[in-house]
Amino acid sequence: MKLLEIKELSVEYVTPLGVIRALERVNLGVERGEFLGVVGESGSGKSTLGYAIIRLLPQNARVSGKILFEGFDILSAKEEQIRKIRGKSITMVFQDPFTSLNPLFKVGEQITRPLEVHYAMSKRDAQQKMKHFLSLVGLSDYVLSCYPFELSGGTQQRLMLAMALSTAPSLIIADEPTSSVDASIQAQILRILLEIKKKTSFSMILITHNIEVASSVCDKLCVMYAGRLVEFGSTKHVLSDPKHPYTQALLSCIPRPRESKTQTKKLSAISGNPPDPFNTPTGCKFHPRCSHAWKLCGEEEPKESVVGERRVLCHLYNG
Ligand SMILES: Nc1ncnc2c1ncn2[C@@H]1O[C@H](COP(=O)(O)OP(=O)(O)OP(=O)(O)O)[C@@H](O)[C@H]1O
Ligand SMILES: [Mg+2]
Repeated sequence: MKLLEIKELSVEYVTPLGVIRALERVNLGVERGEFLGVVGESGSGKSTLGYAIIRLLPQNARVSGKILFEGFDILSAKEEQIRKIRGKSITMVFQDPFTSLNPLFKVGEQITRPLEVHYAMSKRDAQQKMKHFLSLVGLSDYVLSCYPFELSGGTQQRLMLAMALSTAPSLIIADEPTSSVDASIQAQILRILLEIKKKTSFSMILITHNIEVASSVCDKLCVMYAGRLVEFGSTKHVLSDPKHPYTQALLSCIPRPRESKTQTKKLSAISGNPPDPFNTPTGCKFHPRCSHAWKLCGEEEPKESVVGERRVLCHLYNG
């Protein structure tokens, strides 16, 4: 049994201006110990996917489909059952670390909460245990006596990671854990993730708009566009031979240092704008920006095709 299985997951947000289809019939699975990167540009539905998994979607969200975590049906479970899983077996590093910590309390008073709640530990014991996780992410005990505003964005991100690791979860959802830090701290966090991956056995869903970040630590990649999963496969295959024109475009936007020195490849940008969520294009959502698009692409939504070990949502592969 897979650790996590998502079947035909759709999420709509009902707003005064209309309905936003944030996720549309998403299917994916995560194996035990596997790191899955979820990539795509802003508004493609990445955070919505993370919130759906831990059932923290806002009131205006309508959800359908199935999310099975260790075979347990997340979407139809009672709230008290979910509370036993959320923050313990599934933990989340939220997109913005500054809003995850209460500025009025010292770090040590708040990051031990999961251990106190889920393992009934005393604050003293929890703080003691927390020291191990702080050292895993390269922080000293000193941070426990600080207020959040005394710490840099990178330190707060690492604190969140330490907290997410502390309950020995089976799955960590890390939403843009490196988005608010500079390149050197980003590299440091990615190095920490790789080191922890070797030492422990949890799975991770790493959400990021940066395909380079995802591919540096993840075994598999899931590429999202306008709420659709457009390509899913092993990182190695996706990087070496991207199938979906959107994945190809994403990869052509980043410098590839491993390419030969004599090869001078111009970096490109993806033409056009991300779709208006209230008025998405007909047919394939990427077709107005796609250099391969033909008439059918604007008329019909493509069906998912299996290409080798890859799943691709594109008319090019619909036979
Ligand atoms: N609470 C909400 N109410 C209405 N619409 C929402 C809500 N949250 C998200 N959306 C919309 O749903 C779509 C997907 O949003 P989501 O935050 O999941 O994207 P994302 O890929 O995480 O983007 P980013 O990279 O900017 O974090 C967007 O169009 C967004 O505006
Ligand atoms: Mg997001």
